[in-house]
Amino acid sequence: MDRIIIQGGTRLSGDVKISGAKNAALPILASALLADGANTYQNVPCLKDIESMKQLMIHLGARVENNDDTYQIDATGLNNFEAPYDLVRKMRASILVLGPLVARLGRARVSLPGGCAIGARPINLHLEALGRMGADIDIRHGYVEASADRLTGGEIYLDIPTVTGTENIMMAAVLADGNTVIRNAAREPEIVALADVLKQMGANIVGEGTSVISIKGVSSLTPVLVSIIPDRIEAGTFLTAGFLTGDNLNITGCQPGHLSAVIDKLRQAGAVIEVHSDKMSIKRTEKIKSTDLTTMPYPGFPTDMQAQFMVLMSIADGMSIISETVFENRFIHVSELKRMGADIEISGNTAMVRGVDYLSGAPVMATDLRASASLILAGLVARGETVVNRVYHLDRGYDAIEKKFAALGAKIFREKV
Ligand code: UD1
Repeated sequence: MDRIIIQGGTRLSGDVKISGAKNAALPILASALLADGANTYQNVPCLKDIESMKQLMIHLGARVENNDDTYQIDATGLNNFEAPYDLVRKMRASILVLGPLVARLGRARVSLPGGCAIGARPINLHLEALGRMGADIDIRHGYVEASADRLTGGEIYLDIPTVTGTENIMMAAVLADGNTVIRNAAREPEIVALADVLKQMGANIVGEGTSVISIKGVSSLTPVLVSIIPDRIEAGTFLTAGFLTGDNLNITGCQPGHLSAVIDKLRQAGAVIEVHSDKMSIKRTEKIKSTDLTTMPYPGFPTDMQAQFMVLMSIADGMSIISETVFENRFIHVSELKRMGADIEISGNTAMVRGVDYLSGAPVMATDLRASASLILAGLVARGETVVNRVYHLDRGYDAIEKKFAALGAKIFREKV
């Protein structure tokens, strides 16, 4: 498996363009299953997870063509209702085909995603909601089997504002009979992006971006041409890199409005960030102030930025408390950061980070996407050489990250192993 080698300590400068958002692209590509005809999606990031979704769509009978960042998906030939274990185990977000398949074919058989490094990650809320919309749900041989002649709208209260759960319910509800109301819905920008696409396809949705989403089912949808929104987590990762080691870093093609909590926290930590409509600039400030943090669903501070923020705090002036409330086990980067000299103690869902003078390069490994990104950041600011092993997870969610950092002046390269 490839590894990334970094000589730390160079100052980054210049412009970096943010790619399309993985977490917006995945549900939007899955939404192609809801209509006959060719959909066109632009600004799709080049990622392993997107490739996995492409393979899944082809497996289900859709025709998929792509040229650079533009994808065409035509699900007229949709003839298979099964998402097999081999595809789902590579990418949990494969569960996003469950809602569209039941809505379109009245039937779905989707391998249950297992737990993963960051927690058990059940899908009970997806299944309960589909059940309330009239689907019969069984779990057999490791698969969810769902069927319904026609889904009916219903009142759905989510115990937790699950992101992919909200998306699955939205995609099931747009073709259901009658009205569906999702209460305590997720409010992430990716939910709004999906709603925008579904509305362009002819769906009737109001309230996206708030915690109550109302959907009036329609009998059919039509294909669309849309562009994927920029990736707020990639933008936040580069913003953090700029604070750590930037000499005037410009992050372009982003939507700063999606990053308010991140920008606010970085400013509390002493960052000077200039925000424009689709661009942000940041440079390293000599002292990073210790700042406490609690991850929350949007509009709170994203769990997907927690590991990157911890790198900052590991060389901050003083002690900070980082609490992870979204996933139960999302501190797997801590032991690797400690190997680079960080002083971090974990107690339950809280990490106590005492800032040290510097991190030192080391061979490290991560088993989660954002943890891998945090190790790249740590390597960029550390003294000496860092080797990030097993970059498979990084490639799932960051489009050419080492090339983007190299273009900003970092000494970073990929080695095929
Ligand atoms: C999505 C994002 C992921 C991000 C996460 C939280 C995608 C493809 N992935 O993941 O990058 O880290 O949101 O912002 O968009 N839960 C249940 N039962 C359920 C569903 C969820 O208990 O049926 C729990 C989860 O275990 C977790 C919490 O709810 O503790 C939030 O998870 P959820 O919002 O569902 O995350 P994902 O949609 O999987």
